[in-house]
Amino acid sequence: MVRKKINPPLEKSHRITTTDDIEVSTYLEIAKEKSGAQPAAKEEAVSPAKREAIIVLDFGSQYNMLIARRVREAHVYCVLLPHDTPWEKIEPLNPKGFILSGGPASVYEENAPLAPAYVYEKHLPVLGICYGMQAITKQLGGKVAHSTKREYGHAIMHISAENSPLFAKLPESTPVWMSHGDKIEEMPPGFKALAYTENSPMAVIGNKNNIYGLQFHPEVVHTPEGKTILQNFVHNVCGCKGNWTMGNFVNESIERIKEQVGKGKVINALSGGVDSSVVATLIHRAIGDQLTCIFVNNGLLRREEADRTLKVFNNNLGMNIIYVDATDRFLNRLKGVIDPEQKRKIIGEEFIRVFEDEAKKLGEVDFLAQGTLYPDVIESVSSVSNVSATIKSHHNVGGLPARMTLKLLEPLRFLFKDEVRLLGDELGLPEEMVWRQPFPGPGLAIRCIGEVTKEKLEILRAADFILMNEIKKANYYHQLWQSFCVLTDVRSVGVMGDFRTYGYLAAIRAVTSEDAMTADWARLPYDLLARVSNRIVNEVDGINRVVYDITSKPPSTIEWE
Ligand code: XMP
Repeated sequence: MVRKKINPPLEKSHRITTTDDIEVSTYLEIAKEKSGAQPAAKEEAVSPAKREAIIVLDFGSQYNMLIARRVREAHVYCVLLPHDTPWEKIEPLNPKGFILSGGPASVYEENAPLAPAYVYEKHLPVLGICYGMQAITKQLGGKVAHSTKREYGHAIMHISAENSPLFAKLPESTPVWMSHGDKIEEMPPGFKALAYTENSPMAVIGNKNNIYGLQFHPEVVHTPEGKTILQNFVHNVCGCKGNWTMGNFVNESIERIKEQVGKGKVINALSGGVDSSVVATLIHRAIGDQLTCIFVNNGLLRREEADRTLKVFNNNLGMNIIYVDATDRFLNRLKGVIDPEQKRKIIGEEFIRVFEDEAKKLGEVDFLAQGTLYPDVIESVSSVSNVSATIKSHHNVGGLPARMTLKLLEPLRFLFKDEVRLLGDELGLPEEMVWRQPFPGPGLAIRCIGEVTKEKLEILRAADFILMNEIKKANYYHQLWQSFCVLTDVRSVGVMGDFRTYGYLAAIRAVTSEDAMTADWARLPYDLLARVSNRIVNEVDGINRVVYDITSKPPSTIEWE
């Protein structure tokens, strides 16, 4: 194993201002209190935030995270909190309005979750979405009933109110997306119907105190004007200025990291992926050489990947990086293994061992930095009925904090993936690093079908490199969620010149996707595919046939293993 220590200059730290940890820590604390679990990492006290915030109270809808996302797109900070969060936890966030989310319950059921009294008593604007609207109706004296006809899917909303601030810039009729089994039978006193659909005469309701209800879901893409409605709510109704920017976030985070870390030492597992790169850069801005990054080359990276990562972080940014070439360790453990899940398990375990070995050599370390994102945090704790306190661990370093008793430093845990990319841009990271396609933690091991060997990895790397070059040259790279080669375990007969060949079958996988939950195979031009196939067969020894994977997810998955 080769271990290289690279010494950095100290980066000048920036001046900083406020706080940002309270929201999610609040969420976690509440979730933990409910589940009786102990907090994994002690949260430090935070000073009151001056930033304006919209609070989404979570009643369990699967779209809740999207609400927060849409509000943030309007440059207003937004957090998702359990529906019964006490006011003391909300007040320091400087709330400018509430959004009550959708949810699976029925308001007329016994013990149905409802909004806390402060939602109606603080005289802040309120927007109820679907279940949230029904909760408002019930709590303010209206009637909700089970509908004999469940309304699911598209509907056309017609606006009947004149000059409602909620509908600014909206056409008179617009498609909306419904998903509800209950309906409003009687509005609460003082409320008016502001818009209707064919099946819902009260598709939107509101009163003079800026309390609104929407029967449909404005947060999903199937409601094309939904984003405008949410923007209207936060800007026109709540009066938010929309001053939440990445520049602010950088300054606030740097302040926060400095406060949290003090004179402590931080380690970070740098993979060269977007999240770990952004985490490292942000922390480095805050505390300079108190941060050490450990970059483990597991021998399963793509061509030039390790060199490029080291160049950016060592040469350009001057970080403390320990580079560990652990190729042999990983490949020895993967010998003879063909089961994909076993490959993943071995790679995860070995990573932890190598990381621990290196970390121990550093002496006393106080914090482990991780690239946990907001969806990870929310997914772990958000369900109303099934609150779990387990924080999803970064898949590469899961288990480390418990074994090494390190405190966690997770500066991205309020951000969505695309916000992390914007942050990377703001921090000046190279575009190819910030906007790169996702690469799985287990690397080429799950793209090398069957046993992983050095020889097969070299063949796969060569083919993948050609594909990536051609995709980039044809300007497809950023349009695709992922594009890569798979080296199958199949060999087939070919003819080259006058000779018979018996070589590997390579597959090209290129998909479009929003979030990797579903994906479609990319309709790449035949000419591009022909060029890639030609080059691979001609330039890569060992491959004599190339196929294009034309299956979507589902029923397939993006990776082959
Ligand atoms: P699938 O193959 O499940 O992949 O459709 C969905 C997304 O997840 C990535 N992926 C992984 N990422 N560790 C990771 O860090 C893994 O074990 C893993 N398996 C799949 C995959 O590249 C795609 O973006």
